[in-house]
Amino acid sequence: MKKVNERGIEVTNASDEAIGALDDYVRELLSLGNGADAIIAAADAMPECPTLQAAAASTFLYTQSLAQARGAAPYLARAEARLDDATERERILVASLRAGLAGDFERALAGYEQIVDRWPRDTLAAKLAELHFFETGAADRQLRLMSKAADANPDVSHVLAMHAFALELNQRRAEAERLANAALKIDPLTMWAQHCLAHVWSGDSRVDEGIAAMRKFAPTWKQFSHYTVAHNSFHLGALLLDNRDFDPVRALYRESIWGFEPNAVVEQTDAILLLWYVELAGGRLDGEWRVIASHARRRAHEHVFPFLNAIFLYSLARTGERATVAAEVARLKDHADKQAGGQKKVWKEVGVPLAEGSVAFAYGEYDRAAATLAPILPEVACAGGSDEQRGVFVQSHLVSLVKGGHRKRARKAIEDYIAGRPVTPLERYWLAGI
Ligand SMILES: [Fe+2]
Repeated sequence: MKKVNERGIEVTNASDEAIGALDDYVRELLSLGNGADAIIAAADAMPECPTLQAAAASTFLYTQSLAQARGAAPYLARAEARLDDATERERILVASLRAGLAGDFERALAGYEQIVDRWPRDTLAAKLAELHFFETGAADRQLRLMSKAADANPDVSHVLAMHAFALELNQRRAEAERLANAALKIDPLTMWAQHCLAHVWSGDSRVDEGIAAMRKFAPTWKQFSHYTVAHNSFHLGALLLDNRDFDPVRALYRESIWGFEPNAVVEQTDAILLLWYVELAGGRLDGEWRVIASHARRRAHEHVFPFLNAIFLYSLARTGERATVAAEVARLKDHADKQAGGQKKVWKEVGVPLAEGSVAFAYGEYDRAAATLAPILPEVACAGGSDEQRGVFVQSHLVSLVKGGHRKRARKAIEDYIAGRPVTPLERYWLAGI
């Protein structure tokens, strides 16, 4: 028996209760709410609905860990066992999930692109695609998909926010800002639109305006997932560091970012990147690295997308774990050597030098860091992460040139980086260091 969910998408073997659970899940996932995990109990209670099983399996994508993604196996198996009378959309969804959970993000994305082309009101497919676009840095394809999704769902502020964020990732910040504000007009608590604006303010060096607005938004974040609190706080911290204002960043780190869900990769990512940005701005929070190291060791051992390896190896290198770092870089190279096609570029041509350059920077080997990072920066998006997250690599290159005493190259690189934007106190600090 087929029923439709609140977006008009046909769902096989669904009771009213299953449709309700599915609608709740999609709403929680898109709004960055606290209740997405309820889909697990619903899927356990209603094994006959393949879309419900697929939705439960999709929660494991957010672990950004292939080992933890194995927890999705029973849900995927149940979904696949119920595909005989399923719709074509459901078959593509389940195949995309299987691919994405196994780390084949390209295959997963091809499926979600097909779904959004043909069933553009399937907002779950658009949200899951957004995660894989983050892991692959395919911002142009992300914009195409989100533009279609937004056209078909103009009433859903969270979908407009996804479209706005895709515009931002393509450096179309004026349009991103307009659309994020349109989403906030529909629902002021559209967290992803607030987040998109933080990227816009950072990218345009509208530092004081961004800090004031994010501080005004901040009291609303706690109603949502800890990811919302931590990631939006990370962005506020990054804006404060443009002013080299360290004390409120230390407070944000301790009060809003680290130590809430320390096993979550998103929290680890926000924490490492903010500590790294603190160091790039000339500050220190040294004691924090040791706390993160036990988590970083496990993450550096996995090969999900190279951005993660680079940041986790940086954190291990900052604790002085040279033997572990050397062993993990060797394992990363082995993994890269085994890749073919597009993945060879991602892992071998970009991923390995990205990790080695990050480690060299952590060790204070500035000439090696600059020489390793410079050639790959134009291609670094394919390693994954957002534009602002990958900013640590760009800034590490600049700071390596400054600290390495390469005055002419450092000045040119910093001027290229500023590219006509208003100059921030942080950029003035780097220029003064030449
Ligand atoms: Fe972000």
